[in-house]
Amino acid sequence: MRIHLNSNAAARDLPAPAWIDPHLSLRRAELARREMQAWPGYAPTPLVRLSGLADALGLGAIWFKDEGSRFGLGSFKALGGAYAAGLAILRRLRELGLASPATTLDEIRAGRFAGVVSGLTLATATDGNHGKSVAWGARMYGARSRIYLHRNVNAVREAAIRDLGAEIVRVPGNYDDSVRAARADADENGFLIISDTSYDGYVETPADVMQGYTLMLDEALADPAVRPTHVFVQAGVGALAAAVAGHLWQRLGPGRPRVIVVEAEAANCLYRSAEAGRAVVVEGDHPTIMAGLACGEVSMLAWQILETAADAFVTVADSDAKAAMRRLYRPSGSDPSIVAGESGAAGLAGLLAAAGSEAAREQLALDRDAAILLIGTEADSDPDSFDRIVGRERPQAAE
Ligand SMILES: Cc1ncc(COP(=O)(O)O)c(C=O)c1O
Repeated sequence: MRIHLNSNAAARDLPAPAWIDPHLSLRRAELARREMQAWPGYAPTPLVRLSGLADALGLGAIWFKDEGSRFGLGSFKALGGAYAAGLAILRRLRELGLASPATTLDEIRAGRFAGVVSGLTLATATDGNHGKSVAWGARMYGARSRIYLHRNVNAVREAAIRDLGAEIVRVPGNYDDSVRAARADADENGFLIISDTSYDGYVETPADVMQGYTLMLDEALADPAVRPTHVFVQAGVGALAAAVAGHLWQRLGPGRPRVIVVEAEAANCLYRSAEAGRAVVVEGDHPTIMAGLACGEVSMLAWQILETAADAFVTVADSDAKAAMRRLYRPSGSDPSIVAGESGAAGLAGLLAAAGSEAAREQLALDRDAAILLIGTEADSDPDSFDRIVGRERPQAAE
């Protein structure tokens, strides 16, 4: 494990800065919550208390928000891309003069603009989970989707996206190359890009994606007993971590929890950006089993927020992620067994690594008063890999 304490982090007794408001706000969080709660199949995901694990680590409490069952899509990403898809369609309808400021997303879902919406194409690059969300959202709002996959996205993930009705485009190169390919095609053909990564001049949709993620926190904090002192949150481009850090700060104000961003060693763009004090690109293929975290370029908006709202950046190895998956699947004491994929268990991998270091415990105040929130961002997105890592045996399908 490597740890970088963020000396640029704002003091935790300050209120959330007003400049975050145009991107993430409590008012927009409420709109997002109302829309997503109206989607077919909505149910809050479980918030599991892992008391056995907290005791074993000498901590006060650990809560694990298990997103594996979210809308039947297997990950928290079901929230962001699909919600941003709806808002992008609404904006396009307004640009076309077809929708008024009063038009709502449920009118689109109900098919009021079906003639136009069915001709719109939503496009995005993905390493799996975000693309599933956009494809699913496109279908729910009645539009088409075109999803760009880089060379390392496996066939299981591709099939899951295709099954949601998306057209798949394979791109040679890494994730960042697929982002560029999607962008170029969209510019040429008028597709609506639904990216979770923001860059110069492209902020609104990534902010919508992040606002969609905040539903998880609304659900978790609905129980007043759940008041975390720390969040260990895994990051690829950083949108999830920034949504968590920004929303908790806005919601809980001064005295906000410490936010510790956890990345894969091989894709540590936020860690390196924090060290350098500016956004840094990590070139190459980013080989890691934590597929959702294999990103070399930070999202610009996410970086802006994390630069002041994250207290530390931690990197973990694949072996740490495997150990965390096993620990969740075969828990000690009376904790329930949890199925969390490689990226889903990464936040816990960061916590285990930090809790195992005397220096890090001291630096991060990981003690008996610490109440940790973890987000289990995915279930077993790649079931065969999960079986191999945790030693799970599943009945073979009949011939
Ligand atoms: C399962 C999972 N966890 C975490 C993340 C990280 O999210 P972000 O890229 O917003 O940092 C991803 C991103 O794809 C993911 O798929």
